[in-house]
Amino acid sequence: MILAHYYQESEIQDVADFVGDSLALAQQAAKTKADTIVFCGVHFMAETAKILNPGKLVLLPDLKAGCSLSDRCPPAAFKHFVDQHPGAFVVTYVNSSAAVKAMSDVICTSSNAVKMVERAPKDRPIIFAPDQHLGRWVMKKTGREMILWPGSCMVHEIFSEKEILRLKAENPDALVIAHPECEMAVLRHADFIGSTKALLEYAVASQKKKFIVVTEVGIIHQMQKQAPEKTFIPAPPDNGCACNECPHMKLNTMEKLYLCMRDKTPSLELNPLLSKQALTPLQRMLEWS
Ligand code: 13P
Ligand code: SF4
Repeated sequence: MILAHYYQESEIQDVADFVGDSLALAQQAAKTKADTIVFCGVHFMAETAKILNPGKLVLLPDLKAGCSLSDRCPPAAFKHFVDQHPGAFVVTYVNSSAAVKAMSDVICTSSNAVKMVERAPKDRPIIFAPDQHLGRWVMKKTGREMILWPGSCMVHEIFSEKEILRLKAENPDALVIAHPECEMAVLRHADFIGSTKALLEYAVASQKKKFIVVTEVGIIHQMQKQAPEKTFIPAPPDNGCACNECPHMKLNTMEKLYLCMRDKTPSLELNPLLSKQALTPLQRMLEWS
């Protein structure tokens, strides 16, 4: 089964059996009967599929497709952080390594983070890691204070507030839709905030015809496919580029996808004990979802 995230190149999305956000991809990986999963996404996503399917072959077209958010939360430093807050309930964003997941009580994605935090025990402090911006947005939505790990995504933290304001002024009929990994300075201009899947569904269902899209530009492929009559304007980062691409997601190419399927490599390999420890909070997320 070929699974692809919305941030993959358009041509990869078009050959995938299933395209989705992190939660939908994890749910597909959990229920597939296929004995090989080809994960067109980044390392933590394929790793999650492997944790859910230790007996299956999980291929990733480029093993070096990492994630800045996951990289900014090294397991040893995270252990020290958790040890400093004894009794805390640890909610960890799926954009993290298996070792960090293994230290957590429940995993979340941007689709279900609010739900996971609402279900956390009321009498315990909450640690939320590794994305501080998603954490702040969840605090605002749930009214619960949380201890935040100071991580962020290199793609979502560089959107330019100034450019978004300029685009809004130029397109007064457009709605701004944004991913919660963006900074508050950007999110406060959004008409709608949600995961990639939520942004897609909102834009397709809306009566409005024009959208300024503040997330990785790959999602616009599905938006344009599902609502060809609408206009989607990618929000620019503050580095002079016209749109914002995740360099990790874009390491996967059609050629690497073809070669990995032909040669059945590179595959995800995980320490079985670590994999077992990371499975418990992941399964809790799937149950609570
Ligand atoms: P979604 O779960 O919203 O698809 O987000 C994944 C991601 O990596 C965002 O940067
Ligand atoms: Fe990681 Fe950001 Fe890329 Fe998502 S967009 S995979 S959070 S670096």
